[in-house]
Amino acid sequence: MAGGAPPTAPGATSWSCRPTPTAPDAARCDDPGSPLRTPPTTRWARPRSSSHELHMLCYLLLGAGNETTRNLITHGLLGLTRNPAQQERLREGRDLKLAVEELLRWVSPLVHQARTVTTDAEVAGCHLAPGDQVVMLYGAANRDERVFGETAEELDVTRDPNPHLAFGFGEHFCLGAALARVEARVLFDELVDRLGHWSVVGPDERLRSTMIRGIKRLPVVLAP
Ligand code: HEM
Repeated sequence: MAGGAPPTAPGATSWSCRPTPTAPDAARCDDPGSPLRTPPTTRWARPRSSSHELHMLCYLLLGAGNETTRNLITHGLLGLTRNPAQQERLREGRDLKLAVEELLRWVSPLVHQARTVTTDAEVAGCHLAPGDQVVMLYGAANRDERVFGETAEELDVTRDPNPHLAFGFGEHFCLGAALARVEARVLFDELVDRLGHWSVVGPDERLRSTMIRGIKRLPVVLAP
């Protein structure tokens, strides 16, 4: 595939909303010694990936790795601020592992992904035919009362078990789940440990997105 061209293989994803690489991006991707190029071409992809594929890989890692985790943290801060009892339980018990799983469930930073049906199937009484599009709403699954009971809507930092689907499931299960969990644990541990208290001192500004449950701005004051 020529550098910069969109993927054309059957089943390839089209990202028409994203720009194709700019000239400097393309030049860096075409340089065999470039750190942008070396890992994917030498270790993952043979024959060489096109610059468009590399561009999309970087976009996936930056978007998937950054937008999700930071919005988990921001929504987590806001959620704990609005639920002082839960904040107190976190300070007392300090089971960050359970708390982060609950924040993942309650926040569900990734709103949805879609699948194209490849074979006739039946899901919850609905017939699906090849070519149909199915949208998976992670937040809806994570508030399912059949799984999480009557408290499904509530934030409970001690919830256990917590079979949430915030990282998806199956073969596309999030590649960065372990990293995201560590990042969130470290951050909340440090917040509670070193800073003790925080206050949200202004309105949150929401991201207009159907994909990411995001907050663009949240003024917070940290106090030791
Ligand atoms: C709170 C943080 C995160 C959440 C909620 C999250 C959520 C998800 C979800 C729901 C999927 C499945 C998508 C699907 O089924 O189509 C996914 C896939 C993926 N995530 Fe994450 N993610 C997070 C953090 C990260 C991080 C930190 C990275 C990398 C540094 C990452 C990289 C990826 C990649 C590469 C995939 C695609 C896996 C595949 O299709 O095989 N994610 N993520």
